[in-house]
Amino acid sequence: MNKQYLLQIADFWKTRILLTAVELEILPLLQSPSTASNIARAKDLDTGATERLLDALVALEILHKTDNDYEITHHFKKELGDGVHSIIGMLRHRLHLWNSWSMLSEIVRSGKCYYELKGSYDERGENLVDFIRAMAASGVNIAEETLIALDLEAFGGVGDVDSVLDIGGGPAIFAIEFCKALPGIRMVILDRPGVKEIAAEFLENSPYKDEISFIDGDVLTVDNADVIGETGDKKFDIVFASNLIHSMSPDEVRELLRRMARWANPGGQIVLKDFYLEDNRTHPSRSALFDINMLTNTPEGKSYTWSEVETMMNYLVNENGGKVVKKTSHVYLSDGFSGIIVADLNG
Ligand SMILES: C[S@@+](CC[C@H](N)C(=O)[O-])C[C@H]1O[C@@H](n2cnc3c(N)ncnc32)[C@H](O)[C@@H]1O
Repeated sequence: MNKQYLLQIADFWKTRILLTAVELEILPLLQSPSTASNIARAKDLDTGATERLLDALVALEILHKTDNDYEITHHFKKELGDGVHSIIGMLRHRLHLWNSWSMLSEIVRSGKCYYELKGSYDERGENLVDFIRAMAASGVNIAEETLIALDLEAFGGVGDVDSVLDIGGGPAIFAIEFCKALPGIRMVILDRPGVKEIAAEFLENSPYKDEISFIDGDVLTVDNADVIGETGDKKFDIVFASNLIHSMSPDEVRELLRRMARWANPGGQIVLKDFYLEDNRTHPSRSALFDINMLTNTPEGKSYTWSEVETMMNYLVNENGGKVVKKTSHVYLSDGFSGIIVADLNG
């Protein structure tokens, strides 16, 4: 480690150049060749400053330049365009995070998150579309691997899993993967109102679009009957939640787990995917950094340690005071910081 390491950590120029291109919405205009003055005119920008920004994007090899024409390089056209391969939603989400993270010193001084400092507690607000699109962009990289790690065959044979509930299923990327792995299952997503309309864009061309149903609601307050039916006859073999607990307080996670257990069939599984920490709370480093994202953007969310979550699971008791969880196990995924905890429930 030397001073280069520290200076590299403090290097933000590339990030801000790309995020500014996203914020000014000039990338769609660069899907085909355009001059700086055309771009500046279309977006009401200063021509000289626009030209310098575009030159910097060429220097970053995001654009190429021929005479006075700029265009996105062919490597990035799909990623910076529309459609399912686009990462524009993720970049816009990062732009919102840039704004909240810029308050980090004040957040550490006060212990209040960005939204509390602003006087509004909705961590997603008007950014919901960007947020869900961002989750789609990250979900496609890890959903298949998550299901392989879950080892559905080992769970008792594919035939034994008839139903899956995905809580906070967002853009339906994991639900699509469950449908692929377990043909014919009853697949239900429970997420907040407004999300299923955004998920529709990822389901539009999916063969599973009619197999996935949605329940609009807040997992912590929704009626049991809306999830498992009046008589409780629609419980699920797997109750799954990915990247949900990190936005919740420990009390909320306990309530979530109680509900997950209530909605699972005896002998079924509760599965929580998230960015987990070892007990020292500093490793893996990505989970430790993600913890700052939650400090910044949620009132009480955080990166949880494996043992915090597994302890909560093992304390779950049913109405008669009996133990709900037979055993828990956990595994890191290949990125080295995402992981899943599986709780096998008593029969
Ligand atoms: C970080 S995203 C994760 C999306 C997806 N599960 C994934 O891993 O890519 C969290 C999701 O949980 C949903 N969510 C957060 N709190 C919720 C709550 N209290 N009730 C229902 N859904 C919630 C959000 O709307 C969002 O879709």
